[in-house]
Amino acid sequence: MKHVVLSAMRPTGRLHLGHYFGALCNWVKMQDECECYFMSADLHALTTDYADTSNIENNTLDMLADWLTVGILPEKSTIFKQSEVLQHSELFLILSMLAPLGWLERCPTYKEQIKEIKNKDLNNFGFLGYPVLMAADILLYKSDLVPVGEDQLSHLEFTREIARRFNNFYGQTLIEPKEKLTKTTKLPGIDGRKMSKSYGNSILLGEEQDTIKEKVKNMFTDPQKIKKDDPGHPEGCVVFAFYKIFNGKDFEKRYEQCKQGGVGCVLCKFELTEILCEFMKPLTEKRKTIICDKTYLKKVLEDGRCKASQTAQKTMSEVWNALKF
Ligand code: TRP
Repeated sequence: MKHVVLSAMRPTGRLHLGHYFGALCNWVKMQDECECYFMSADLHALTTDYADTSNIENNTLDMLADWLTVGILPEKSTIFKQSEVLQHSELFLILSMLAPLGWLERCPTYKEQIKEIKNKDLNNFGFLGYPVLMAADILLYKSDLVPVGEDQLSHLEFTREIARRFNNFYGQTLIEPKEKLTKTTKLPGIDGRKMSKSYGNSILLGEEQDTIKEKVKNMFTDPQKIKKDDPGHPEGCVVFAFYKIFNGKDFEKRYEQCKQGGVGCVLCKFELTEILCEFMKPLTEKRKTIICDKTYLKKVLEDGRCKASQTAQKTMSEVWNALKF
């Protein structure tokens, strides 16, 4: 039996290399082995952006263009918008009846975001219920394997617990999913912190060549390596972290060279620029074509909506049966 995979991202705008190596390249691979559903979590975007919804639709199209650019294929995967498959809202409502407040209030992501996000009022029912909606997303497709980052593990644990609770009350209906963590080396942003749009330290998918040059120039390197023949510490160097991902097996040679003071940061950056530009060029061109073709993007989402709805409807009729409604 094929694994059923559901994964999603909130539509927050254009994606960057961190998304690519952290998630998307994994999604692309899974398409061949599993039955895949990839969703724009636009209702989840609403949990934080309810006061200004003006960007959500465009962000979804930007994100979709990025997915298609890196090789998520509508022929292989079901690609859709959460808000257009109404069963997400339906199952969310039912699960919310079974969701103990304590589980939600204890959720580490919830506590963290309430503390960190100060520019928005997050004291809402919907925000507290974020994991309930995510559980509905996953359980609706009987997905047994969910590719997520480590930050989402508590939500997945919540999904398993709520599925178990449902099954205990009403009989075996929902499937408890397992996580699939991506095993890539983490790609830092150009300043060495986690790559993130909000830090302004990211390299976008489809970034222009000039901007790539500029960004590599600004990458943080080993502060103790001042002259080019000073011995360096590649472990903490952003340029080296990129080498490790982009330069395949040659990165070990570069590691030794840097440690022995055999190569300077300027040359290292120059070479990385070349590698990155070459990697990005075809993607940038492909993305431009895709993002201009709004009719195509809409059609992908419409086909996805039809396919996803069929599965979702089937699960929901089982859910209503289990509830004896
Ligand atoms: N919460 C996820 C994130 O912020 C997005 C998401 C919504 C998701 N529904 C999902 C991820 C279902 C996996 C499965 O990244």
